[in-house]
Amino acid sequence: MATSFTHHFEPGTNPAAPPILLLHGTGGDELDLLPLGRALSPGSALLSPRGNVNEHGAARYFARVAEGVFDPAEITRRAHELADFLAGSAREYGLDPARLIAVGLSNGANIASAILLLRPIVFAGAVLFRPMVVLDTPADPHSLDGKRVLVVGGARDPIVSVDHPHRVASHLRAGGADIALHMSPAGHGLIHEDIIVAQAWFSGATKLDRIA
Ligand code: MLT
Repeated sequence: MATSFTHHFEPGTNPAAPPILLLHGTGGDELDLLPLGRALSPGSALLSPRGNVNEHGAARYFARVAEGVFDPAEITRRAHELADFLAGSAREYGLDPARLIAVGLSNGANIASAILLLRPIVFAGAVLFRPMVVLDTPADPHSLDGKRVLVVGGARDPIVSVDHPHRVASHLRAGGADIALHMSPAGHGLIHEDIIVAQAWFSGATKLDRIA
């Protein structure tokens, strides 16, 4: 039986707006990113699961060995577990996986990129705020054809070194994803510019740095 996740679901009010999957950072919960989801795509349905791994009281989507040190087997197992939950939730709430956009922050961005590498069928694209390379493998050719991904790093992020957002982007681009990359003048937390850039991406604008 699929693992269940404590989650919040908010039905959409604008059928033209894509449903959004919200994935919080370490220590967050299912309510944290609701204002972000509403700001990025007003009227979207919001599905927001809480990470089911407990790190000294902080919720995460996968366990880590230490800060910045990851176990690929653990990440793979947790990515499939969350993907199974998403497939079931899409049926339960009537969400179309071909339109679902994941919005992840930090640990949430990392599980989203792992799912893009391992189970790309469960969503259509993603906004990855402050991602790190957690599975250091390029996506299989054509596995991400037709998917749109926005990667937003922080140029002064003390936790994620600046090469990581670029490497995440190129791993996903290897699978054929349409990648936009933006480096905000920010640390690990979100700033106003992150929101503006992601709003523009949601509305289809492409004035962002492209990976060559
Ligand atoms: C975090 O604090 O969540 C890290 O930056 C990313 C991770 O461990 O997945």
